[in-house]
Amino acid sequence: MNSALISAVRGMRDILPEQIGAWQRLEKTAATCFHSYGYRELRTPLVEQLELFTRQIGETTDVVQKEMYRFTDAANGEQVALRPEATVSTVRALLAAGKQRGGTVRVWYGGPMFRHERPQKGRYRQFHQLGAEALGSSDPTLDAEQIIMLARLWQVLGVHDKLRLDINNLGNRRERACHREKLTAYFQKHREALDEDARQRIESNPLRILDSKNPVTLEIAANAPALADELGADSQRHAEQVKEKLTAANVAFNENAHLVRGLDYYNLTVYEWSLADDGRRQNTVCGGGRYDGLAENIGGDAFPGCGFALGMERIIDILPPEAPAALADCFVALTDSGTAATAVADRIAEDCRDRGLAVWRHVGGGNIGKQIKKADTMGIPLVIIIGADEIEGDYITVKRLLDGKQQQTAVNDAAIVSRRLLDA
Ligand code: HAM
Repeated sequence: MNSALISAVRGMRDILPEQIGAWQRLEKTAATCFHSYGYRELRTPLVEQLELFTRQIGETTDVVQKEMYRFTDAANGEQVALRPEATVSTVRALLAAGKQRGGTVRVWYGGPMFRHERPQKGRYRQFHQLGAEALGSSDPTLDAEQIIMLARLWQVLGVHDKLRLDINNLGNRRERACHREKLTAYFQKHREALDEDARQRIESNPLRILDSKNPVTLEIAANAPALADELGADSQRHAEQVKEKLTAANVAFNENAHLVRGLDYYNLTVYEWSLADDGRRQNTVCGGGRYDGLAENIGGDAFPGCGFALGMERIIDILPPEAPAALADCFVALTDSGTAATAVADRIAEDCRDRGLAVWRHVGGGNIGKQIKKADTMGIPLVIIIGADEIEGDYITVKRLLDGKQQQTAVNDAAIVSRRLLDA
């Protein structure tokens, strides 16, 4: 008797061959788009020292407090974590490589991230991000350039109509500290009316209360002291310049004073792209911003930067459908009588591959008619037939399924004829 099938870990999903087309389309389109802005790919490990994330993402954030996959390496007692995001790893990697000494660096990355969240549609425990980071300058040109690059990516992917952009400016550390003090005092005054979650955040992270989902809390938050009132001339100028550049590039945005993001390392520009039809709960598809103090916090030199990450699952969910690509260019059909057909099939398949064709070499027997039907249902446009007559007469038949055109040829010319029939 079979034992019970072991399932995948909750919140972690397989990406099946019939789903991979959309993933590859997104990956390729993004890589091309990022490359056109001077970004080069960086790959960092999936596992990092726990402390890297706890210190940089923020001890009081949900990601660190509730969602991190952390464990002790039994072999050496090291405290490690699966990466919940890749910005801090990127900064760590670039600092370790001494890149802070060489001017502006633009990198992009992609791959799985891990957060122990409650799974639901669009929210997984292993999910995938594509992101980009630019370091070495606090010029608002970089913030704007990344947002414009994303607008271009949405356009090429055909999802631009479905998304809206919210931006905010969090100011510098001193401005935020001032604002935080005022916020804490304000929420203390309204403590009784706040929900439990918000009350717990009054001291630890009052900014997150502005992000609450509770309507009563939100009503109170609406009248809370605004960060905008604390911003000095430099912060205001940075925000204005980003907005001017977006307007010049025809990128529409909504200024949202309540946008705070869920990670602690941000300053100045923050933004999120979300689904314009607000019906769904997991509707943020991409988030980012500036993090000028992160490198110094990690223990490195000053290395101001900004970046973003998009959730691949959430973008794939809104991609316009595309006809699935054919599994191969040609199907090698063969009679199962003896080794002669088998040897010819093997050889022709390799010859075709030499000429750049993708080949599905049939195995498992069955009559030629059935094999041709199978090729048709697989969407393969060409069939190379090695039937009993062909073996007998020392030739092969190439058949184009779209119009039934077929040609007989010597085994040696099978690949050339196939290529010609496909290209015609
Ligand atoms: P984040 O907002 O935490 O930012 O994540 C970015 C995106 O990842 C989200 O907008 C969402 O689309 C996707 N995402 C997050 N959690 C999940 C999940 N559990 N399941 C599915 N998708 C998810 C960051 O990670 C920052 N590192 C972005 C950044 C880069 N900031 C500066 N540079």
